[in-house]
Amino acid sequence: MSDQELAGVTALVTGASRGFGRGVATALSSAGARVVGVARDRAGLAELRTEIGGSFTAVAADAADPVVAGQLMDTYRPGVLVLNAGATPLPRPIQYHTWQTFSRNWEVDVQHVFHWTREALLAPLAPGSTVVTLSSGAALRGSPLSGGYAGAKAAIRWLTGYAAEESARAALGIRFVSLLPQLTPATDLGAVFAAAYAARQSGGPAGGPAGGPAGGPAGGPAGPGGSPLTADQVGQAVTDLVTGPGPDQDAYLLTAAGLRPLT
Ligand SMILES: NC(=O)c1ccc[n+]([C@@H]2O[C@H](COP(=O)([O-])OP(=O)(O)OC[C@H]3O[C@@H](n4cnc5c(N)ncnc54)[C@H](OP(=O)(O)O)[C@@H]3O)[C@@H](O)[C@H]2O)c1
Repeated sequence: MSDQELAGVTALVTGASRGFGRGVATALSSAGARVVGVARDRAGLAELRTEIGGSFTAVAADAADPVVAGQLMDTYRPGVLVLNAGATPLPRPIQYHTWQTFSRNWEVDVQHVFHWTREALLAPLAPGSTVVTLSSGAALRGSPLSGGYAGAKAAIRWLTGYAAEESARAALGIRFVSLLPQLTPATDLGAVFAAAYAARQSGGPAGGPAGGPAGGPAGGPAGPGGSPLTADQVGQAVTDLVTGPGPDQDAYLLTAAGLRPLT
């Protein structure tokens, strides 16, 4: 891929201060995009700006706020929009959740995808624009230590598919695609759950938040070849998707081995 493939393109990435979002912002910038990074932590964004340089614009804001979504879409009209921001749920079995802790990923992850996706369709973004959302492998298998996380991530996958359908029906030419990454300990969120499931499999403290019967449908963090997915690989996968011929699927599994269409 040429360094200039995304020259002249504005990419907006939510949750850019660390983890996958940081890897995506860095990869899109390396491909020539001007990147706008949104997150609440100013220090993380400032660090990224030092790394990337003047083509990176840091916006310290709550991505789940509909006013933030509307203002930033009006200001930047991105050609690439990556809806990656996500809350870390409390790692504990279902009976230790309250409704408020259970629904955290609906309030943050789903709500932000809902607001930004709606804005993208209504603007509408220019034909050829791409909107990538971060769902999760947990959407397929469940995640019994994460309250409403797996359901929230499944909702993001469906919401993205609905938006793709609306884009096609109105001939908007906006591509919508969701990624379902495998659990990886390479980020703050992933490390919490890799540790929680490892503790659960080894018996865990009886009755404690991560305790209870061993095993769980979320499975282990390692990829098929044994290597966990990294933030750089997520960044490369997103860049390949937006610079390639165009995703022909609405959803892809993402592991260290790369993207695999969900059929
Ligand atoms: N890591 C995994 O194993 C894994 C697997 C599948 C899917 N995912 C999904 O991939 C995405 C990124 O996960 P990650 O592992 O990189 O998590 P992470 O390291 O915890 O990073 C989460 C990012 O989201 C931002 N964020 C959270 N709430 C926000 C809000 N209200 N407004 C703006 N930014 C917000 C955080 O920034 P601030 O705190 O500075 O706001 C941070 O930049 C998430 O949607 C996650 O569910 C992760």
